[in-house]
Amino acid sequence: MMDDIIVIKGLVKRFGDKTAVNGLDLSIRKGELFGFLGPNGAGKTTTLRCVATLTGFDEGTILVGGHDVKKEPSAAKSCMGVIQQQVSLDKDLTIRENMISHAMYHDIRKKEREEKIAELSDFFSLGEYLDKPVDSLSGGWKKRAAIVCAMLHNPEVLFLDEPTSGLDINARRLLWDIIRKLHAEGTTIILTTHYIEEAESLCDRVGIIDKGKIIALDEPRVLCDKVGSIAVEFAEEGKTQYRYFKDRDEANAFASTKEGNVSIRKTNLEDVFVELTGKSVGAQT
Ligand SMILES: Nc1ncnc2c1ncn2[C@@H]1O[C@H](COP(=O)(O)OP(=O)(O)OP(=O)(O)O)[C@@H](O)[C@H]1O
Ligand SMILES: [Mg+2]
Repeated sequence: MMDDIIVIKGLVKRFGDKTAVNGLDLSIRKGELFGFLGPNGAGKTTTLRCVATLTGFDEGTILVGGHDVKKEPSAAKSCMGVIQQQVSLDKDLTIRENMISHAMYHDIRKKEREEKIAELSDFFSLGEYLDKPVDSLSGGWKKRAAIVCAMLHNPEVLFLDEPTSGLDINARRLLWDIIRKLHAEGTTIILTTHYIEEAESLCDRVGIIDKGKIIALDEPRVLCDKVGSIAVEFAEEGKTQYRYFKDRDEANAFASTKEGNVSIRKTNLEDVFVELTGKSVGAQT
């Protein structure tokens, strides 16, 4: 489709005899805020790394902004900003020097670079850390700095691989605000997360990936409705059990047959995740 900014077809990525991504098809619409969910080891990071040209792949094609990442990697790269799961800042440099080197890589001129560093550092309250060496900062502050680096060249597409893991509540809320702001300005955002409420509240669509394949793809509410929009939670045989129903009447009728503590609530993405992958969020694939 014309409005698709990323088109992935038949992506396969192997590490030796391990197939990390196994024939994955996915299109991301221009301006969309898309969330990737999946158990540990499902292939989320590997897929993002293939799209962001940080690693090669074995089969399939990836187009970013109409550019084939294998044939025109530079053109594809200039559309994208990436915040990796393992923050990749140069440890021998200060935070400011890291930002300058990122800006120079993207040919941003000095004046614009300085304005952008000041604006983004201010937003993330990074000011007092700018001239400190990377290694002297805690993980959460390194992450904030990495986010600024990835945003300096105003990329059309921003990849955020678990952007809020390890951040304190304040920084997480700040980041949600900035993600919403960038989204409102038209940036396409693809994030991975193990925080289901993050995906539910931020994302236009989510894709659930398991064993290197997309197993569900839709708006969060639509995915919940597919499982059954109302959940009944009850204890049986010493375990919490869940059943899903299309409406409250059906849920009430079922709940009345159960004894003890029974709760009726709206189905959420966590229910969808567990139903489809058979695993709790964050479990190993
Ligand atoms: N460099 C590598 N060498 C060998 N195997 C790898 C490498 N990178 C990833 N893998 C394997 O590929 C599979 C997918 O890993 P990936 O990091 O993409 O998962 P993920 O969905 O991002 O998981 P998580 O939620 O834990 O971040 C895993 O089995 C992993 O062990
Ligand atoms: Mg990952």
